[in-house]
Amino acid sequence: MLVNPQVQEKLWKFALRTPYHTDYLLHPKEWGKKIDLKKSFPDYIENYWLEMGSGWGEVAIELASKHPKTGFLLMEKKIDRIVATETKRKALGLENIRYMTLNFQWFFTEVLEKEIFDTVLINFPDPWPKRKHHKNRLMQPDMLADIHSLLKPNGNILFATDYGPYARRCISLFRKIKGYEWEGLEYSFARNESLPLSFFETEKQKEGKRIYYLERKKVDMI
Ligand SMILES: C[S@@+](CC[C@H](N)C(=O)[O-])C[C@H]1O[C@@H](n2cnc3c(N)ncnc32)[C@H](O)[C@@H]1O
Repeated sequence: MLVNPQVQEKLWKFALRTPYHTDYLLHPKEWGKKIDLKKSFPDYIENYWLEMGSGWGEVAIELASKHPKTGFLLMEKKIDRIVATETKRKALGLENIRYMTLNFQWFFTEVLEKEIFDTVLINFPDPWPKRKHHKNRLMQPDMLADIHSLLKPNGNILFATDYGPYARRCISLFRKIKGYEWEGLEYSFARNESLPLSFFETEKQKEGKRIYYLERKKVDMI
């Protein structure tokens, strides 16, 4: 929990007033109740991925087309980006995508079940370069602990950023926090070719930026 419960309850009422509705947009029925992903996706879905800050949705759309038995939950606070993703989903008839317009810094483990995701995908989160804004970054010890609780045993975090200081901070966080390990390189400048290119990744490639890719596996928090 990243904000205190009183503030959270107020934010909750605000968050429910989303101006956009589709059957593919998930909301817990009431405050304090978790979303049942198994009931929210078709019953043939075998596993779930979460994308935090899904932007215009191109990564999840391509992955969902290739992996029809995986359910993709997209968390994105900007409604226009969800609307654009939904237009693409509808055109392709994909049934394995759902959205949450909730701000993941307000609600996260409160609305999602524990040990449910195989993979959490974090592509190009806002870097917040100024020191006074670092508190707004997604990658924080509390958030990594929260993600740990949502991942299945051996589940993965896949992270990418072009902002070197943020990448180095994450490498150092993962060294300190218990519950994650990596295989092979601690980070790589070579992309995982099994993942589609995201909008920001394409932009950063065009700008000639070096991109840091980090992969971590959940292990017990001993
Ligand atoms: C830099 S963009 C990257 C988008 C996409 N992942 C990509 O690689 O093209 C970061 C995205 O995260 C979303 N975002 C940032 N903070 C968020 C938060 N607290 N809750 C939900 N979405 C957030 C932004 O609206 C934005 O779409």
